[in-house]
Amino acid sequence: MALRINDIAPDFTAQSTAGEIRFHQWLGDSYGIIFSHPRDFTPVCTTEFGAVAQLAGEFARRGTKVIGVSVDSVQDHQKWKRDIEAFGGAPADFPIIDDTSLTVAKLYDMLPAEYYLPSEGRTPAHSATVRTVYIIGPDKKVKLMMTYPMSVGRNFAEILRALDAVRMTDGVPLATPANWQPGQDVIVGLALTDDQAREKYGTLDIKLPYLRFAKAPA
Ligand code: BEZ
Repeated sequence: MALRINDIAPDFTAQSTAGEIRFHQWLGDSYGIIFSHPRDFTPVCTTEFGAVAQLAGEFARRGTKVIGVSVDSVQDHQKWKRDIEAFGGAPADFPIIDDTSLTVAKLYDMLPAEYYLPSEGRTPAHSATVRTVYIIGPDKKVKLMMTYPMSVGRNFAEILRALDAVRMTDGVPLATPANWQPGQDVIVGLALTDDQAREKYGTLDIKLPYLRFAKAPA
């Protein structure tokens, strides 16, 4: 069955460019982002990994570990890293998982529909992972999922923004409105009365009885 928000992110042990990784142990108390790409040495993937390499400091500032996955080997990942670094102009120090066995791809539902064709109709191209993103909390639960087709490169500024929104609202009665950006006001959940909301979050900007904004907590 497909993963759902609040499921425990499946644990696994895999080889990676940083050696053997036991996923939950590797996450520790951090937030984590696991993201798949179709194949090494392909154009869109190289731009995406270059973007992640450039954002390494942003992820670190947010206490978030990032790990890539594809169905290629560690040896290929290591060679491809040189291209990523040359294109992105930043070190690609985050681990990339060797998922030649498709273990992680299957656990995280990263394969396209064609993979599930009867085996006589399948080619190696059908085993390439699509572009999935999972944000996982320190509690190891899936907080957010995105899936893009192979032909559409992801917007990593949006992934960073979504991570900020997840961290802002995790375990507290807050939500973020459409197009929210860090620094903007947040929505106070309906579980709190106006008085309780003021006590917890200060002055309210009440647009509608059920739409109340407050300053985002620091
Ligand atoms: C790419 O990264 O350019 C790519 C990979 C697989 C299919 C289509 C595009």
